[in-house]
Amino acid sequence: MKLIHVIGARPNFMKATPVWSAINRMTDFNQILVHTGQHYDKLMSDIFFKELQIPIPDYNLNIGSDTHARQTAAIMIKFEELVSDLKPDLVLVYGDINSTVAAAMVCAKTQIPFAHVEAGLRSFDRRMPEEINRLVTDRLADILFTPSKDGDDNLIKEGTPKSKIHFVGNVMIDTLVRLLPKADKPSTFRDLKEYILVTLHRPSNVDNPKSLQSIIQNLETVSKSNLVIFPVHPRTKKMIADNNLEISDNINFRIIAPLGYLDFLGLMKNASAVITDSGGIQEETTYLGIPCITVRGNTERPITISLGTNQLIGKDYHKLPNLVNTAISGREKVNTIPPLWDGKASERIAEILITYNKNLK
Ligand code: UD1
Repeated sequence: MKLIHVIGARPNFMKATPVWSAINRMTDFNQILVHTGQHYDKLMSDIFFKELQIPIPDYNLNIGSDTHARQTAAIMIKFEELVSDLKPDLVLVYGDINSTVAAAMVCAKTQIPFAHVEAGLRSFDRRMPEEINRLVTDRLADILFTPSKDGDDNLIKEGTPKSKIHFVGNVMIDTLVRLLPKADKPSTFRDLKEYILVTLHRPSNVDNPKSLQSIIQNLETVSKSNLVIFPVHPRTKKMIADNNLEISDNINFRIIAPLGYLDFLGLMKNASAVITDSGGIQEETTYLGIPCITVRGNTERPITISLGTNQLIGKDYHKLPNLVNTAISGREKVNTIPPLWDGKASERIAEILITYNKNLK
């Protein structure tokens, strides 16, 4: 069977790597890796290929950044050309980014079966670009691999046939389980014992200068009593610069460039608490048992709240200083690792694809 994996942006890399390796170990399928180039900076892309040991992509579509329509359309045009040459038997798409939905639409229109890894997640907030990507991708997918049972429930409610849905667990946690022993704090921060780790890149937080300014001010308050480490995503960096926002990089508030996987995981596993608006980090902190304050009003990963360490604060940015203190002092929220977040989700995917392939013949 000829398989194409489509990846495009940072969070895809940790998801596709274990799936690629499991299929490589367990089958003789011909695997082809396509990077759309949605993320192209060394720190957003190349470093992950080295650290995660993902093979160099067979094809890079070099799309880069643009508006949603232009970026999605550009990926579709190039991916359509590619699949018409390569004629894959199955395509695998990951997560909820523009590259995911672009490849999904090409597959559906050219009648190439495709599977969605991380299917069924819903924030029920259509103002989020990722929610649109999730809805469209899942609607069109032939095989849907879910990370948690709420994903199955959402898909069934939307009318997806049960036979297409496979609850396999969380592939991002596969990568975490594999690399946790190797992950350590970057050397500059090696001696630090207590600190708060921050990441922010959601348009709803960073594209609005007032919101971004207010978050920064509240993080500065947090930094008066706690050391704050803030690796800044390119989108956030651009918004800070474009709006001339003041952000003071000082001994207690460290503003740094985006980190590689191992450095970031090393910092996260030793953090007192994490403040984020990322999807994946809500899951990783739940697995690690690190308190997570999510600067969003909703989450497509509700299991990180019901079982994990996560709490949502929406736009109540002023709550950050108090919540950080509560999280650090009490750690009262006991976490449970969600079912099938066990490092073996990718093997389950490979097994299902082996059966799928047998049934093709
Ligand atoms: C994308 C995903 C988001 C994911 C995030 C992880 C979509 C709709 N969004 O958001 O779901 O959580 O990746 O990082 O697909 N930029 C660079 N260098 C890069 C990439 C981006 O400088 O390598 C800058 C550009 O100014 C660009 C901006 O970041 O305009 C946004 O990049 P883009 O890929 O469009 O979206 P993200 O915000 O990264």
